[in-house]
Amino acid sequence: MRMYDIIMKKRNGGELSEEEIRFFVQGYTKGEIPDYQVSALMMAIYFQKMTEAETCTLTMAMAESGDLLELSAIKGVKVDKHSTGGVGDKTSLALTPMVAACGVPVAKMSGRGLGHTGGTIDKLESFPGFTTALTTEQFIHNVNEIGIAIMGQTADLAPADKKLYALRDVTATVDNMSLIASSIMSKKLAAGADAIVLDVKTGSGAFMKAEEDAFALAKEMVKIGKNAGRNTSAVISDMNQPLGYAVGNALEVIEAIETLKGNGPADFVELCLALGSRMLVAGGLAKEDAEAREKLLAVIKDNSALDKLAAFVRAQGGDERAVYDTSLLPKASVVEPVVSPVDGYVSHIACDEIGVCSLILGGGRETKESEIDLAVGLVLEKKVGDAVKKGEPLAYLHANDREKLAQAKERFLKAYAIESTVPEERLFIKGVIR
Ligand code: URA
Repeated sequence: MRMYDIIMKKRNGGELSEEEIRFFVQGYTKGEIPDYQVSALMMAIYFQKMTEAETCTLTMAMAESGDLLELSAIKGVKVDKHSTGGVGDKTSLALTPMVAACGVPVAKMSGRGLGHTGGTIDKLESFPGFTTALTTEQFIHNVNEIGIAIMGQTADLAPADKKLYALRDVTATVDNMSLIASSIMSKKLAAGADAIVLDVKTGSGAFMKAEEDAFALAKEMVKIGKNAGRNTSAVISDMNQPLGYAVGNALEVIEAIETLKGNGPADFVELCLALGSRMLVAGGLAKEDAEAREKLLAVIKDNSALDKLAAFVRAQGGDERAVYDTSLLPKASVVEPVVSPVDGYVSHIACDEIGVCSLILGGGRETKESEIDLAVGLVLEKKVGDAVKKGEPLAYLHANDREKLAQAKERFLKAYAIESTVPEERLFIKGVIR
């Protein structure tokens, strides 16, 4: 079998066989097929798409490209969650300690930034010393001891996704339904949790811009999970503007910590409650959503979720003092406002462009080898529907480089539309697939 023929077949709109899919997944994982051929195949898949059968085969081939974790040594129903990627999406940072503080063991595998979106591992590395490079034994031990562990993909766990994820990130091949579904579900299946809750975003800051595509992606992933014997559900939410106010690694960590102290932005709290309810119900800790929401709010009120975050950070080598004193997190040298050029109401935000502003400031990767700057990013002052006066700050940009700051400011201003009338309110939670 030749990689050239597989690329050609997909380029011409053909359906790949199981043998062909397994051939390229295994060959790429072992380093026998080069990046440039797989990049070409990803682009062919991007344009020609994959059938449901191809997507399922790709998912299983990627999950089986390394070890499949066996978590039976952890007591209780282990729950994992995963987002399809958004801007300002710090959900795992607040949600996982909330759920663990309620008593559901969270065994989660996370990724790094992708395209214009950030990744949980990069964000967590804002805690000095923090690592997600855990052995399976440490992972299981931490979930048993403190109820939560987050690991990155090691060479042994879904290594095919690790390589494809990094490649897609820099070849403009992220936003394809089959590639997203297989990437997420291969990791989730390999990581061994009993229940999976998917956080599917739709809108200008999501990979699935159209609501119907987001629902189709959610349904496809839920089906893959169920076929593999995992209790899987999905919450579809709006990503037409950043989640909360902070975008950028350490800045998002601060917002997540504030949320655990009871000072969270309304949309972010709502999403944590919607996803958390699914996790508590799946974990058998609540019978229905209303009961779950009460439990989740209680662990914010009594500080146990915040303390759980500190215990989790400590267990993974991080400086837990930063949970209680965020001045210990990385800080940018320059903080400057971007001001509104007119009076009016914010009617629209090109949310992916806000993610790109954070990338320009240094918060994301340009190439697979790029180092990211954990301190930079932006904090919005105005979101959709807010009134603004000419000269008032729309956001504060946090930068370590004046040239990048100037570029990001210019791009930021183009991302905001300000009009004279109040825009219509949009539904934030669009639906749940159970
Ligand atoms: N998250 C992932 O893990 N993979 C994707 O392709 C998109 C979001």
